[in-house]
Amino acid sequence: MTRSTTSSTYFSTTTTTSHKSNNSGRNPVKIAAKTVADAFVSCFTPPEPKSSITSFGDSDSFKAPSVASDGGREKRRNSGSGRGRSIYGSENNLTHTKEAGSVKFTMEDIYKATKNFSQSLKIGQGDFGIVYKGRLEDGTVVAIKRSKKTIHDKHSGAEFQSEVRTLEKIEHLNLVKLYGYLEHGEERILVVEYVPNGTLREHLDSVNGNVLDFASRLDIGIDVGHAITYLHMYTDHPIIHRDIKSSNILLTKNLRAKVADFGFARLAADTESGATHVSTQIKGTAGYLDPEYLSTYQLTEKSDVYSFGVLLVELVTGRRPIEPKKEIKERITARWAMKNFTNGDAIFTLDPRLERSAANSLAMEKIYELALQCLAPHRHNRPTMRKCAEILCSIRKDYRELAG
Ligand SMILES: Nc1ncnc2c1ncn2[C@@H]1O[C@H](COP(=O)(O)OP(=O)(O)OP(=O)(O)O)[C@@H](O)[C@H]1O
Ligand SMILES: [Mg+2]
Repeated sequence: MTRSTTSSTYFSTTTTTSHKSNNSGRNPVKIAAKTVADAFVSCFTPPEPKSSITSFGDSDSFKAPSVASDGGREKRRNSGSGRGRSIYGSENNLTHTKEAGSVKFTMEDIYKATKNFSQSLKIGQGDFGIVYKGRLEDGTVVAIKRSKKTIHDKHSGAEFQSEVRTLEKIEHLNLVKLYGYLEHGEERILVVEYVPNGTLREHLDSVNGNVLDFASRLDIGIDVGHAITYLHMYTDHPIIHRDIKSSNILLTKNLRAKVADFGFARLAADTESGATHVSTQIKGTAGYLDPEYLSTYQLTEKSDVYSFGVLLVELVTGRRPIEPKKEIKERITARWAMKNFTNGDAIFTLDPRLERSAANSLAMEKIYELALQCLAPHRHNRPTMRKCAEILCSIRKDYRELAG
């Protein structure tokens, strides 16, 4: 598996943000049963955190809304192919049943699972380290990320461990599950759900020879919208992803999107246990970074919304956020696309491999309208992630009516 090259440069600047380190108030979002039921008939909109009947432990509460968000896609994908009775198809059902964070791993488990980190099981490499495909004793197929500790990870304080526990508990159809985290000498090992169909970036690059159609791109945008909304609404402190980008969006065989690497920029930060201030790093990927975060070091959920805006443009154009080989006015894809959109020339920016149908053109305009809001220079002018997901759902509804 190859990784994106042009957009993978990290900014890494140490700073200090004011942040309460007490995790005791991190109560999971509770979902009202009625809302879950409603979610089967309409595009899922997560409820306000205060509505509470069903507890976090009820995994069906999470799966149901996202299943609903798949709408007609499953039908479309399976027609004629005979593939995939379940949402995920049959390629990796074991990962589907395993509970997040339910297993404590030893280094021996990891060696066994990866056949001593066999080269033949290496599936990717990112800034965090090398990624291996592995199989646990119970047969579960997992992805194992192996990296060396950096000077920023001097110790694993109580807050750090608590943060890991929080991430381990998170379970959502559109988020890659964290099964476990292990520190061993200088090594840091993450065991996560294996997602078998490559990254969104690879699909936009057509590495498998297929063009991702417009409807699938819209579906993926909605999946990502739901996943991030869920993170933002999960606790009293929202979990901010910090690194939303197309190479962190993994796809299942049925082109369901699963967002990976959430919360890890924070985990990688140097923490001061018990303190009210947490030293952290500006982390993110060039082309996706919120300009306000860069200039003020203030990180909020709206930084994710900005990155999501970049991702929306990426979905429509198929281009990477930064295209160094293009002429200067086209180099920053979002800027180029938004300029064309505001000039009434959005159609010139639609991925040339996509059909110029009425349905595609109209949906493209609406997606750009949303992207423009997400990309607002000041965070208070950006919509919430929840609003983004709602708008995308309504765009998809109209799209389906028009596309027939
Ligand atoms: N859970 C997973 N299931 C299947 N493949 C994965 C999984 N996680 C990562 N990969 C593969 O490994 C590659 C590297 O992932 P990794 O997260 O380390 O790097 P990245 O996302 O490209 O960059 P970054 O380090 O900035 O996150 C991915 O591009 C993907 O192909
Ligand atoms: Mg990644």
